[in-house]
Amino acid sequence: MSLLAPTELSDCAEKLIRGRHSTRAFRPEALPEDTIRAIFSLAGAAPSNSNAQPWRVEVVSGATRERLANALQVAHAEKRVSVDFPYPDDLYSQALQARRAAFGTQLYGALGIAADNHEARAAYNAESLRFYGAPHAAFLFVTGDGGARLAADVGAYMQTLLLAMTAYGVASCPQGLLSFYADTVRAELAVSEGQLLVGISFGYADGTAPVNHIRTERAALEAITTFHS
Ligand SMILES: Cc1cc2nc3c(=O)[nH]c(=O)nc-3n(C[C@H](O)[C@H](O)[C@H](O)COP(=O)(O)O)c2cc1C
Repeated sequence: MSLLAPTELSDCAEKLIRGRHSTRAFRPEALPEDTIRAIFSLAGAAPSNSNAQPWRVEVVSGATRERLANALQVAHAEKRVSVDFPYPDDLYSQALQARRAAFGTQLYGALGIAADNHEARAAYNAESLRFYGAPHAAFLFVTGDGGARLAADVGAYMQTLLLAMTAYGVASCPQGLLSFYADTVRAELAVSEGQLLVGISFGYADGTAPVNHIRTERAALEAITTFHS
């Protein structure tokens, strides 16, 4: 007999955490300002080491969003890549590469892009710098020199933010790709401090887009967790 005792909150957590999915096609309409403020206010409740809260968040909408999207496309076309966090070739082990490949098959399959069509994949990635059409984007900076421990705190902030968005009916896509143009983001937003970890596009999902119906798998509990007793 199972002793599992679901509570109202565990039920909500199951829905919230499992109900969050990355969205890659958005409706153009802006979110109400109150909703945006509520979401970012809630995200600020994220935990951090000694409660240092080593994050700075830049949220772009409207004309600033448009200007930044254009600047990112130009930076991409001119190959002006600038990363604050290194991305070495051997970052992913073979096992992790296999998961990435499986995801790629799913994503490009939903988009109708053949596995060997590198040109179409590259074009899709370039276009994603326009935030997948989302009316808003948030840029998460790690304060100071962006040490690994501080970046971990900002990771906790990111997930808290994504779940806060889900709770308010707002769709999102974390985009590591946006952090490959850190100097462009810094220049356009006049940011003088911190290291860019990730960008997050957000808004209302376009429910008609097949790409938004992708549901990714996860490794089995036993594959990633050891319970010691
Ligand atoms: C740090 C981080 C960076 C990501 N970068 C990108 C990205 O550049 N482009 C993209 O389309 N999705 C990106 N994603 C979304 C992942 O592909 C997605 O989270 C993963 O495949 C699991 O799917 P799910 O979010 O729908 O559960 C990123 C996610 C995270 C957490």
